[in-house]
Amino acid sequence: MTASASADLWHHYGRTRHTTDRTVPDTFRWSWGQDCGPGPDILGDLSGLYVADLGAGAAREAAHLAVHHRPARIVAVDASPAQHAMATDLYGHLAPRLRLVRSDAVEHLRAAPGTYDVLYSVFGAVDFTEPRHLLPAAASALRRGGRLVFSTLAHHLGGAPAQPDVRHAEIPVMTPDGESATMRRWVLQEHVWTGLLAEAGFTRISAGLLPAGQGQRAADTLLLTARRGPLS
Ligand SMILES: C[S@@+](CC[C@H](N)C(=O)[O-])C[C@H]1O[C@@H](n2cnc3c(N)ncnc32)[C@H](O)[C@@H]1O
Repeated sequence: MTASASADLWHHYGRTRHTTDRTVPDTFRWSWGQDCGPGPDILGDLSGLYVADLGAGAAREAAHLAVHHRPARIVAVDASPAQHAMATDLYGHLAPRLRLVRSDAVEHLRAAPGTYDVLYSVFGAVDFTEPRHLLPAAASALRRGGRLVFSTLAHHLGGAPAQPDVRHAEIPVMTPDGESATMRRWVLQEHVWTGLLAEAGFTRISAGLLPAGQGQRAADTLLLTARRGPLS
């Protein structure tokens, strides 16, 4: 059955953990397995900076940065009412350093030209949004020289290779009522991401592979970093 366009397809994500783990995580990992690889240091020194998490979910990573680093402001953006509600319940008390915003990331970024020093996404909005819309919006919302960092799947779950061009996959999900539905996910090869970033006005683009750990749903992670160049 097809879900109505308004169904919150992120209703179930992280719901069990929400009831059992209310802590501010003391680590931040980019990798799919959350078990290895670099931490937030690759974002640079965040002291006094304006930062946004694109597709923050329950805002666990953003809460970590708000508590363990000293950004002037970190904005956790998520379009899902369910995820925003979980984030508000868990970390609303970290305001005003942590600001929780329910919005589509592209809309939020387009309304904030030249605002941010750092944007990041951990398997977040970058994975689930048309990149030819999201990446130019991210470039325009960054100050010149500002940084974009995101982790994304290096291949499809199950092992099929990433796409060699800008094409999304339809992945199975469940509506809040338990009906079957699909959503779009962009799983792209490294050269496709780096080309999209360059087209969007980013420079100093680099990519690294974080190998999968153990387990059935283990997956390699692609970690991309880029700086906003001088946009015309
Ligand atoms: C797999 S979850 C990751 C959440 C979080 N980054 C984490 O590591 O737990 C993806 C999140 O991206 C959000 N998302 C997807 N597309 C979005 C968009 N265009 N704007 C805002 N949020 C979006 C979803 O609502 C969901 O909460």
